[in-house]
Amino acid sequence: MMKAQILILLLLFTTSLKAAVSIIPIPQKCVERKGNFIVNEKTTIVIPENDKDIRDAISVWNDLFTTAAGFPLEITTLKQKTNFIQCSLNASLEEETYKLKVSTKDIRIEAKTAKGIFYAFQTLRQLLPPAIEGNVRVENIEWNIPCVTIEDKPSFSYRGMMLDVSRHFIEKEDIKRYIDLLAFHKMNVFHWHLTDDQGWRIEIKKYPKLTSIGGYRNKTIVGYMWDNPTEWDTKRYGGFYTQEDIKEVVAYAQKRFVNIIPEIEMPGHSLSALAAYPEYSCTGGPFEVEGRWGVFNDIYCTKEETFKFLQDVLDEVIALFPSEYIHLGGDEAPRIRWRNCVHCQKRMEQEHLTKEAELQTYFINRIENYLNEKGKKIIGWDEILEGGIPQRATVMSWRGEKGGIHAAKAGYDVIMSPNIYMYLNNHQLGVNDKIGIKKRLISLKKVYDYHPVPAELDKKAALHVKGVQANLWTEYLDTAEEFDYSLYPRMAAVAEVAWSLVENKSYDNFCIRLMDIEKHYDAFGLSYCKMIYDK
Ligand code: ACM
Ligand code: ZN
Repeated sequence: MMKAQILILLLLFTTSLKAAVSIIPIPQKCVERKGNFIVNEKTTIVIPENDKDIRDAISVWNDLFTTAAGFPLEITTLKQKTNFIQCSLNASLEEETYKLKVSTKDIRIEAKTAKGIFYAFQTLRQLLPPAIEGNVRVENIEWNIPCVTIEDKPSFSYRGMMLDVSRHFIEKEDIKRYIDLLAFHKMNVFHWHLTDDQGWRIEIKKYPKLTSIGGYRNKTIVGYMWDNPTEWDTKRYGGFYTQEDIKEVVAYAQKRFVNIIPEIEMPGHSLSALAAYPEYSCTGGPFEVEGRWGVFNDIYCTKEETFKFLQDVLDEVIALFPSEYIHLGGDEAPRIRWRNCVHCQKRMEQEHLTKEAELQTYFINRIENYLNEKGKKIIGWDEILEGGIPQRATVMSWRGEKGGIHAAKAGYDVIMSPNIYMYLNNHQLGVNDKIGIKKRLISLKKVYDYHPVPAELDKKAALHVKGVQANLWTEYLDTAEEFDYSLYPRMAAVAEVAWSLVENKSYDNFCIRLMDIEKHYDAFGLSYCKMIYDK
């Protein structure tokens, strides 16, 4: 019998043993009890004070509930006798911790801040019937929540997902839907890859050509980049977010406690900017917004004018994003143009640099200094280590774990995002999978079994691993259905890697809980990969 069929049989068998409570990521402590709390028109939500953050944290859930149930729950500061959801603040708890006690009479939530309260309500969302996710009123349903006592907090403070909107553009409303799903899984970082060779996607008022020219390409390759011969689709393709769009998305994410880290790629992956402003390249161009995938030789020149341009761009970026971190990319920047450029060679001489790799470090350090002065910190892909570690950067380890291990041992903060586990653009089911690059299989189990702290780090170095991130590159994905299929349910596995205790993790148990969580995906209308049922 095939492995997948055995798994289905096992799952069908174990369904009869199924727990009443299916929460992903699995909480640190969860005790189930008999009985249910039933939410009805008379249920009130009691808050400790009339605090806007707490009201906001509750309103995301209350709005969802109101749509599905047809009535909102009243929020009050007045003490109730019974049938209430009480939120209390407890300063002794950690920032993201929540305690949740559901009994047949009432629900009690404790947290340090609104953020913990928000997570408690996301847990309640998963415990309610899946119909809570729908956008129509549901009749004849009992809104019951099983009795549980939960104490929960995340293992890692950075629980991220990256979306590449340059290779294929993702509409604002789809980004908001995705942020809601991040929150559903208690993920807290959205890394927004906004610029690359194939399209510049963020309006910059001082440099309008970045979007009017850099936001559109005239042709795109069809099929894999390594196919021979190359075929082209000659439709003009592109799009961008206005600053108003960005503000709307940032506010939406803030309400869901998701921090958005914008990525403005430099010095490589910058052809869309150079197509608009070729004067910031080494050769002067001309260039086109790229229609192929891969790594390209024309990158930003290290002349003074380029830094002025990038600082202006970053001024507008930091005004839009409250994030403490800005991602500078830094990956896959060939140095051949720098080697043959009088400006770059002069810069190396002035700065006493002997290798072009050190010029990359100079580049990143310079931008880092600028951003530090503005109160921001930087993150870069692990290539930023190559010419010597930049001063204070956080390193995102993507070429396996090597870069992350090196940086953590040297005392730098690290986000683990190794391409062999965390690149969700790879196929997940096997060679017959219709979506995803066939070069590497990244199954749900492979994602689930990843642990972001490598065994070779000692205790002190391990503390520098701040968390984990999965990435969705979109060269070979275009429609909302393809994005959904690639993201879910693997996002659920990432969430459990990032949030749950290793000793609480079990893939078999995760699959059982996932069967219930997928009912929420169904009600939400997600085109997720139905690997467990359909094989
Ligand atoms: C990357 O995948 N080039 C970070
Ligand atoms: Zn140059």
